[in-house]
Order: sequence, then structure tokens, then C-alpha cells
Amino acid sequence: MTTLEATRAAADATSGSAPGASSTLDENTVLQVNHLKKYFPIERGFLRRNVGVVRAVDDVSFAIRQGETVSLVGESGCGKTTTSRCIVRAMSPTSGEILYRTDEGKVVDLAAMSMEEIRPLRRGFQMVFQDPFSSLNPRMTIYEIISEPLKVSNIGTRSEREDRVADLLRRVGLRAEYMQRFPHAFSGGQRQRIGIARALAASPRLIVADEPVSALDVSVQAQVLNLMMDLQDELGLTYLFVSHDLSVVNQISSLVIVMYVGRVVEVGPPQALFKQPKHPYTAALIASLPKVNFSGEVLERAIPKGEIASPANPPSGCYFHPRCPFAIDVCKNVTPELEEISPGQYAACHRARELDLST
Ligand SMILES: Nc1ncnc2c1ncn2[C@@H]1O[C@H](COP(=O)(O)OP(=O)(O)O)[C@@H](O)[C@H]1O
Ligand code: SF4
Ligand SMILES: [Mg+2]
Repeated sequence: MTTLEATRAAADATSGSAPGASSTLDENTVLQVNHLKKYFPIERGFLRRNVGVVRAVDDVSFAIRQGETVSLVGESGCGKTTTSRCIVRAMSPTSGEILYRTDEGKVVDLAAMSMEEIRPLRRGFQMVFQDPFSSLNPRMTIYEIISEPLKVSNIGTRSEREDRVADLLRRVGLRAEYMQRFPHAFSGGQRQRIGIARALAASPRLIVADEPVSALDVSVQAQVLNLMMDLQDELGLTYLFVSHDLSVVNQISSLVIVMYVGRVVEVGPPQALFKQPKHPYTAALIASLPKVNFSGEVLERAIPKGEIASPANPPSGCYFHPRCPFAIDVCKNVTPELEEISPGQYAACHRARELDLST
């Protein structure tokens, strides 16, 4: 089974509806990513000779249905940001399809479109960025920042935009009069609320949130996550939620996709994935979550052993084999395919059926 079939079938298993065909989306699917690849050239020397490629995203496929949250997790460098940026076409993919259902219900392939063709569709999909400090222009007022997507899409008069910004600020838990201020006046959590308000300005249906709480204090993380979940319910939003932290996605996702070195290694609903991971890498990520006692003291934390493989020079066979405690000979030579191991749960591991990795 291909990654695409597996992720789509996993999504079907989660939401309980019939599987869709590969190049046509069923009516509930907002986004279908097919075999997405993004390779960066490695250039050396004065003449900038091409000496290789970084396979940042290497054949990633998944589907997101209307109103659901699909999470992308994995350690730093596994290709989460590159995947997100390709989807919103902040960068062009090397190959693959990004099938997107427009506000009018038409299905288009964002990967094959020019920036000019994409511009009128932009209001439908927006991004929330990881760093609320660098992602807000310090020289723009909050009004200018939040209303920018409206201005770009030529939506509303100045006074209509002011009303909209006031409404958005209230929705994200801030005061309307803050719109006259500059970003430096706000804390990290407040800035991320402003980033969310900006993403919501043009009434998108799909939000791609790249580690939206990772830069925030733990206490503030929960508030911003709760806000995002409330907004999803109120506005019927669809989320692609990116995080390096499995504990963050556990509560909020309908489907979790685990990536390692540009590839999908496990897909499943969070409850199953946490209780009974099928891929040793997922198990290692779960084991690395801090275990705390009642007074908040960290008791143990098992960091996965070894270095993360480089996407510029990945190992042979299973990319995880140099770090995997269960590796056998075949793992060094043969790349494992993503397969359904238990209903709705998929893993790319030669030993997934025989290993008991329950937590
Ligand atoms: N513009 C770029 N040029 C070359 N390599 C890049 C570029 N952007 C990202 N990479 C590499 O691609 C891989 C994936 O990066 P990224 O998508 O940022 O991962 P993540 O968000 O999961 O931390 C990393 O090895 C990173 O160094
Ligand atoms: S294929 Fe082999 S090396 Fe890779 S995760 Fe499975 S057991 Fe480990
Ligand atoms: Mg990133």
C-alpha cells in the first residue's frame, strides 16, 4: 500500500466514511497531498556546482477532511515546516500534487499553479507561524498586521476592515483598542493571538499552523491551544497542526502523521498511536515525553539514542535503522513500505506486526 492510500484509508477509518479515489476528492475532503517531494539542491564552491540534494520532504501523502485536525509530528529537521510551506505555496514543491477544494467547491492542484493563479485562492488557506516574535512586522500596527490579508484580497473599505479587526481581536481574547499599538507592546502569547487573528482575517477554511505554541511558555501554550480549538468549533475550521511535541497533538487531533527524515513512518488516530505505537520511532518519541509526578517533578525521560539521519545523506533501507533497538539485517537493505498493521493504524516497519511496543 502506498503512503497515499494508507493515509487516506487511515483518515477514512478515523472519520468512518468511505474511501475516496486518488485524484478526485470526496466532498468532505479539503486538502489531499499526493506524493509531495521537496528537494533542496546542495551547491558548493565559487561556481555553485550542484553536489547533491537535501530530501527535506520525500513522498508524503495525506488527506484532511472538513473540520478535522490532522497533526504532523517528528523531531526537528524531519520536514514539517517544508511540508507546510509547500502546501500554502510559500515555496514550490519539487513534485507531487496538492489538491485543494476552493471556497466554490472546485478542486485545484496548488502544486501546478502559478503564484498569479493562486493569489485569488489565498484567502481560503492561511498559515500561523512558529515564532510570534519574528512573524509580526515590528513597524506595523496591529491593525495593519491583521488587516493585511484583507487588503491583499481587496476586501472591504477602511472602516469595514477596522470593524473586522476589532471583532477578530475580541475573538482571540484581546481588546479592540489594541489595534493602534505595535507588536513590541505584547507578550509571546498575545502575539500568537494576533498571528491567529491575522490568519483568520479573510475567513479561511484551512489553517496550516506550524508549531504555533512551541515558542510559548507551557502555561500559555494551553491557553492558545484552547483558543484554537474554540475557534475551530465556532468557525468550522480545518487544521493542519504541526508540532515536534506528541503530547500537544494528543488532545486535539483526529489523525496523527509521524515523520522521520522527510518520510511518513506512522499514521493513526492519537489514542491508538499513544497506547500502542506500531513504529519503533513513534515509541521512542512517546518514551521521550517527560514523565512527571503529582508535584510536577520530571521522573524520567528517554531520549531516542543516536543522531537523526541527514536528509542529504540518508542511511540505506529503513532510515531509522542506525537508531533502532529492533533493527535486523533486512532493515539495513530494504526500505519498508507503509502498511496497515491494525485497523486504521499504519506503519513503515518490517517488524511492526511482531513487535509489542505498547506503552
Ligand atoms: N531552504 C533550504 N535549503 C536547504 N535545506 C533546507 C532548507 N529548508 C530546510 N532545509 C532542510 O530540510 C530539512 C527539513 O527542514 P524543516 O522542514 O525545517 O524541518 P522541521 O520543520 O521538521 O524542523 C532539514 O534538514 C533542513 O536543514
Ligand atoms: S524497519 Fe527495522 S530498523 Fe526500521 S523501525 Fe522497523 S525494526 Fe527498526
Ligand atoms: Mg519547523
